Amino acid sequence: MTLKEYKSKQELALDFSSYLAKMIATKDTFHIALSGGSTPKVIFDVLAANFQTKIDWSRVHLYWGDERCVPPSDDDSNYKMTVSHLIAKIDIPQENIHRIKGENEPSYEAERYAAVLDGHLPKVAGVPQFDLVILGLGDDGHTASIFPHEIELWHSKKYCEVANHPVSGQKRVSITGQIINQAATVAFLVTGENKADKVEEIIQKKGDFEKYPAHLVAPHFGKLLWFLDADAAAKITSTQF
Ligand code: 6PG
Repeated sequence: MTLKEYKSKQELALDFSSYLAKMIATKDTFHIALSGGSTPKVIFDVLAANFQTKIDWSRVHLYWGDERCVPPSDDDSNYKMTVSHLIAKIDIPQENIHRIKGENEPSYEAERYAAVLDGHLPKVAGVPQFDLVILGLGDDGHTASIFPHEIELWHSKKYCEVANHPVSGQKRVSITGQIINQAATVAFLVTGENKADKVEEIIQKKGDFEKYPAHLVAPHFGKLLWFLDADAAAKITSTQF
């Protein structure tokens, strides 16, 4: 596990984007699962503004770690957010975009997307492997759309499961632990003081960390990186870095 702390979201976004560009340059085809929510927006804005030509986007295939079960036109859609902040501003072939179809019936879409991963990703020991999975951290300790009240979904034998937001009840389609921990690299991107407690508990294995799905992220043979701004890292002792 490697922890990287940055003074600001912007500094984090710039360094992560440079790191991503270097990773992409090492492979003819690069398969990446994106996270949703609000944190990625600043990353996508930096990529769109500074890496339009520094990254050969024709090598990149975009997938999502999770999606809300809403149409792609809905403001809650992670796909819509990604189009607005990134996809609409880079030259990436449409066939390289593998969205979770939030408009489909959730259990059907979970099966369909699992088949997409099975059909498009290289396999290691028979399990599809992403080159990079980007994850966010919820202030309840969830990641992707595996929430504490449904932590058993992490251990599903399926590549994708239907999850339920604990407050709104909104259905989500999410990749599961076996896909996340199969990745060559997993990068948590976490900013904001509201995440500091969970970052401390998960990284230092304190308090109720075992209740949080994010603590189960432990790539079998890949790298685990935490990109944190100062607010999110506020409770981590410096020895951790
Ligand atoms: C989603 C995300 C989710 C997100 C965390 C953090 O669809 O909401 O995939 O896992 O990464 O909830 O969200 P913020 O970045 O908005 O805090």
